[in-house]
Amino acid sequence: MRETLHELEGTARERLDPDVWHYIARGAGDDQSAREAEPAWNLWRLRPRVLRDVSSVHTSCAVFGDWESPIGVAPTAYHRLVHPEGEAATARGAAASGAPFVLSSRSTVPLEQVAEQLGARPWWFQVYLMRERGVSDALALRAAAAGATALVLTGDTPYLGYRPTAGRARPVPLDDELALIGVRQHLPTDVQDPWSLIDQTPRQTLADIERLADLTGLPVIVKGVLRGDDALACVQAGAAGVWVSSHGGRQLDGAVPTAYALAEVVDAVGDRTTVLADGGVRCGRDALVAQALGASAVFVGRPAVWALAAGGAEGVAQLLTGLREELGHLMGLAGATGLEQLDPSLVTRVPLRFDPR
Ligand code: FNR
Ligand code: LAC
Repeated sequence: MRETLHELEGTARERLDPDVWHYIARGAGDDQSAREAEPAWNLWRLRPRVLRDVSSVHTSCAVFGDWESPIGVAPTAYHRLVHPEGEAATARGAAASGAPFVLSSRSTVPLEQVAEQLGARPWWFQVYLMRERGVSDALALRAAAAGATALVLTGDTPYLGYRPTAGRARPVPLDDELALIGVRQHLPTDVQDPWSLIDQTPRQTLADIERLADLTGLPVIVKGVLRGDDALACVQAGAAGVWVSSHGGRQLDGAVPTAYALAEVVDAVGDRTTVLADGGVRCGRDALVAQALGASAVFVGRPAVWALAAGGAEGVAQLLTGLREELGHLMGLAGATGLEQLDPSLVTRVPLRFDPR
């Protein structure tokens, strides 16, 4: 799949406006975390078992919903930048392949319309805590009413950590009409600067976990956790899951890659909570390593956006089905027939080759 993904990336790059491409591709700072995320998975090698009956391998899992695959779509903003149907198409593609789907707070299609595409299937809603809390709360309540089975509270974004946009027209090449589609109804009609209300708030704390859970009755997963002690603090504050992520290298540049942080987080929380992961996952092997280290599901961010740009809902379905099939194929070769058989004994750490660039 790694090659297919690089082709998808190339197609998306050819098709998209250069400013849009730049928005999707870029990391924060000088891109250290964005660059390291993918190669960091190579820190691990597999320790397969032999002579196991692998005539029937399945990749199904139950993680706040039942899925046929543990490789899902991470929440990413503004899908109508890359495809006219936007998040509606992404959701349909994920549903067609039985993969988890997380809708961003920054959706360019109203969440109820996205939920319609999913019918009775589970999906999750990502929450940004905005300066005007009422808007975040209204979105979370609408998501619960529309059938979301979990909330993903992004904890690594007290404000955006963007790289300088020298030479670029705007940080996000999107007009307000489209950007505000999901939240306009919650803003005063005479508001001069809507972003002063809906930008992320730096006043976010661990207490927001329980507040959101109480408000909506949904399990709350905290996204952006990179330390064991922090994962425990989230669980103690009421989180139903933690999502190990460095936000695709777009927040704190220099933050540790998921492939390094995952084992520490799993060690710290043990069986107390569900652990999820994203960042540089580009093939079934990366997913297999993450599962072995203790992730219950992994997610792709940029690859889903490339697939949407290159092939709409069908493109997203093909990407996710390809990743799921590759994972199943590798599981059989490693001697496992189900995700429950993947444990840390399946991987070993190889010496780090440090690339100081
Ligand atoms: C993101 N990400 C993100 N995360 C989030 O919680 N809410 C959001 O709205 C967005 N928006 C967003 C836009 C774009 C263009 C990108 C690339 C990323 C982060 C995302 O959920 C995920 O953590 C990373 O994208 C995972 O890394 P990879 O798979 O892109 O390497
Ligand atoms: C981003 C924000 C929207 O990474 O999460 O672009």
